Amino acid sequence: MKEVIDFTNFKKRNKAYAGANGNKISVIYEGEQYMLKFPAQARLNKDMSYSNSCFSEYLGCQIYESIGIPVQKTLLGTYTVKGKKKIVVACGDFTKPGVTLQDFASLKNQMIDSERNGYGTELSDILYTFEEQTAVDSVILSERFWDMFIVDALIGNWDRHNGNWGFLYDSVSDEMTLAPVFDCGSSLYPQADETIMKAVLEDEGERNHRIYNIPTSAIMKDGKKIRYFDFISSLKNEDCNRALIRILPKIDMERIRVIIRETPFMSELQKQFYETMLSERKARILDFSHKALMNQDIH
Ligand SMILES: Nc1ncnc2c1ncn2[C@@H]1O[C@H](COP(=O)(O)OP(=O)(O)O)[C@@H](O)[C@H]1O
Ligand SMILES: [Mg+2]
Repeated sequence: MKEVIDFTNFKKRNKAYAGANGNKISVIYEGEQYMLKFPAQARLNKDMSYSNSCFSEYLGCQIYESIGIPVQKTLLGTYTVKGKKKIVVACGDFTKPGVTLQDFASLKNQMIDSERNGYGTELSDILYTFEEQTAVDSVILSERFWDMFIVDALIGNWDRHNGNWGFLYDSVSDEMTLAPVFDCGSSLYPQADETIMKAVLEDEGERNHRIYNIPTSAIMKDGKKIRYFDFISSLKNEDCNRALIRILPKIDMERIRVIIRETPFMSELQKQFYETMLSERKARILDFSHKALMNQDIH
């Protein structure tokens, strides 16, 4: 089991973080700055007071790391507020003096000939921005986007909007590079409580619904949120196909199982739920599409 850190008494910093999914503070741990994320309210599930978003953040980021995509460092721990111990996820702050985070939305805002705003997630507008912008290499940018699309399909992330990925901007050199991946808090069904987890494990219909239909991507096509299975298995987007070929061999389910097994605080049911959903999503969305793609290339 991984060590569990009590963050309650560490030195605080005045750095503040935005974002709608739960409270955040800044602390120093072992000389490094961390953003502590507290559990978000479970808005869609009235039977649950707080969601499992901290586990989603932790597991999502650990899975990104296991695949080899640069991602924020994450640690699970506790924080006591008014005598009540809460589970928190600490996210290594990857900014530093002179180097700030600029989200993709702000890059998209620079497309001054476009009528749409930076937060619009219509796929064609996003791809247009990749071509038109000159701040970063457009191939590197496109590859990161599609790599994240594939991994987000695996972890069922519904919230990779234009504010949830971006760049590190060096205000002295004017250089911009891709930021590590952050905010995986809306993946892995954060609002599934024990009753839902049980039902999903026992009932194939419930499971299939959560593989093929929900969650959808935050990215839209023709005004509608993309369903991961439909989009990836259609094999219509060449860049998406290439990302599938790049990423799939790097997904090591055994390693992911170990990550889940070693995660503290979770019940056996919760571990079983994550293991099942990840291996099913991999098999039915990614392996299935990859096989279809290989067959298409042969014929
Ligand atoms: N590891 C990090 N280092 C520095 N800034 C971060 C990091 N992760 C997130 N942020 C900033 O904090 C904001 C809120 O974090 P995020 O994880 O997106 O929270 P939420 O789940 O509420 O959207 C982000 O939009 C980003 O600007
Ligand atoms: Mg966010």
